[in-house]
Amino acid sequence: MKVLITGVNGQLGNALLNSLPEKIDLIQTNRNNFDLNDHEKCKQSLEELNPDWVINCAAFTNVDQAENNPKEAYSINAYGPLAIAEALLKKKGKLLQISTDYVFDGNGNSPYKTSHKKSPLGVYGASKSLGEDNVLGRLKNKDKIIVLRTSWLMGSIGKNFALTILKLLKEGKDISVIYDQIGSPTTTDSLASACWAIIKSKEVFNSFNNEDPIMHWADAGIASWYDIAVSIQELAFELNLLKETRSIKPIKSKEYKGALAKRPHYSVLDCDKTYDILNLKKKHWRNNIKNLLKNIN
Ligand SMILES: NC(=O)c1ccc[n+]([C@@H]2O[C@H](COP(=O)([O-])OP(=O)(O)OC[C@H]3O[C@@H](n4cnc5c(N)ncnc54)[C@H](OP(=O)(O)O)[C@@H]3O)[C@@H](O)[C@H]2O)c1
Repeated sequence: MKVLITGVNGQLGNALLNSLPEKIDLIQTNRNNFDLNDHEKCKQSLEELNPDWVINCAAFTNVDQAENNPKEAYSINAYGPLAIAEALLKKKGKLLQISTDYVFDGNGNSPYKTSHKKSPLGVYGASKSLGEDNVLGRLKNKDKIIVLRTSWLMGSIGKNFALTILKLLKEGKDISVIYDQIGSPTTTDSLASACWAIIKSKEVFNSFNNEDPIMHWADAGIASWYDIAVSIQELAFELNLLKETRSIKPIKSKEYKGALAKRPHYSVLDCDKTYDILNLKKKHWRNNIKNLLKNIN
């Protein structure tokens, strides 16, 4: 099976490469040879390469910078996926579009079902939401699209919360971390296992009845950013990545001055159906983050 991955140098792209199953003929693409801003060229490349699946990991992922660069965020997150979908309409390939918990406003207090009404708070979430609508609109009636939403992604490479906290603690800094945003951290290794399971599944398209083919994936359990930071410190100390511990102070979102974009207060995705469909076992986020820390070079 021929699988094209976009954004191969990102955190998820990297985890997909590291967990490549047998019998996959991989086409690795990045910003240089598959620029999601160049929609016509993306279409042309896909028509020539004719993959069986595209995993679209590439995105404008900086939530704060998206507020100041809406044109680019929409071009990459909404119209890039549209170009992919339009090319695949004419070819055999299917699309696994990675999306986000930030399509919801976070005003809920029980895990978001895939069918919950979307209401993004900022440009990043809105552009990803339009990306979902664009690809579903083109491909859902053809059984050629799965949208996979995930949350609070962290891997052992790239830019993410776990590595930032570890760096600050290693530098001997006391830190303040938000405790009034609740979600489910997800490691890139766990998300990569779900992506490969979707692609290998023969049944996945039969699982939706009349619902849109949207799936949710996060690691088991919920936490605030503060809880995760405390766990990262405990685990890093246990693994000898830190020689001493520092103070971690819980603060409210409104006390944190570094964020331009509003973020949801409650970001928990209901992932039960996905775990059932893919027959995968839930693993607690703390265990997965422990493995992430063990894999840091
Ligand atoms: N990070 C999270 O917390 C989170 C949460 C929920 C959902 N998601 C979604 O999960 C997916 C993977 O996220 P991630 O954290 O792995 O992202 P990431 O590490 O930021 O990687 C994104 C990749 O996209 C590439 N990219 C950016 N603009 C591009 C363009 N114009 N053309 C082609 N490639 C481009 C980047 O290339 P460069 O390396 O050259 O910049 C990078 O390799 C994304 O769809 C994201 O929206 C992420």
